[in-house]
Amino acid sequence: MNNQPKVCVVGSINMDLVIETAKMPQQGETVLGESFATYPGGKGANQAVAAARLGADVRLIGAVGNDPFGKTLMSRLQKEGININGVINDQLLPTGVANIILSDKDNRIIVAPGANSAIVPAVIDKHDLIIRQSHIILLQLEIPLETVLYTVKKAKQYDIPVVVNPAPFQQLPAKLLEYTTYFTPNELEAKAMSNDPLYTSIEEKMIITLGKEGVSFIENGKKQHVESFNVDVKDTTGAGDTFNGAFVTCLAKGLSIAEAVEYANAAAALSITKVGAQEGMPTKEMVEKFIQER
Ligand code: RIB
Repeated sequence: MNNQPKVCVVGSINMDLVIETAKMPQQGETVLGESFATYPGGKGANQAVAAARLGADVRLIGAVGNDPFGKTLMSRLQKEGININGVINDQLLPTGVANIILSDKDNRIIVAPGANSAIVPAVIDKHDLIIRQSHIILLQLEIPLETVLYTVKKAKQYDIPVVVNPAPFQQLPAKLLEYTTYFTPNELEAKAMSNDPLYTSIEEKMIITLGKEGVSFIENGKKQHVESFNVDVKDTTGAGDTFNGAFVTCLAKGLSIAEAVEYANAAAALSITKVGAQEGMPTKEMVEKFIQER
């Protein structure tokens, strides 16, 4: 009997093309960078890896292209113990890529979604059983918005909690706002969401990650704030993804919101101590040791 929390992630899979540079180029300028490397990424894949390393039984619904990046990413996901039966191998579109410029311990990212656009509602229908058998569903916005909405509606129908990480930000349909259990925006995304006329109706669903300022959320009508940990920052790419993967794993295990936020905050802190979105993502044992030591 498998007692692991069952997490379904519906989202993007990218190859991250990362250049480190001391100087961020301005418009029309060319600068010489220090290094280049490729790392597995994509918000969906990153969040799936974070949850799997923390002990969840993870199923990923996503898509890659029929190309070398796609093959490498699929085998990495498999090595993480993630069930990839829901990942399509699209014959027409290339695997998604993210162009990441790392400078001064921060990043700028442009995503070319490629095969991630092939995750249409029919793909969700095809994997209806994965959705139905999950304890929680986690989505981001690097796949078509109509698919995110479709999945959220399906989860509502099956009475399964859904967390939406609204990144990169897009205006969200009213039904998506209504049916989502929690949103996990960063500060910029939260600010953009606060302009929505329906914002007051979702304020209590907002778990806002504030980078080095910690995390804020509302529990039982009261504003709460959790401070971030002081760590040696190498690369913040994937910190939000680690937070999301950890947060849903904790919720699926039955932890309270405050407990889930505390744990996810610690996992995210560890993730930024290495370069590459998935490289620093911790295991369950690492997070427990870190929390004990602090
Ligand atoms: O959240 C970080 C991720 O955003 C990167 O891995 C990149 O692929 C983009 O999707």
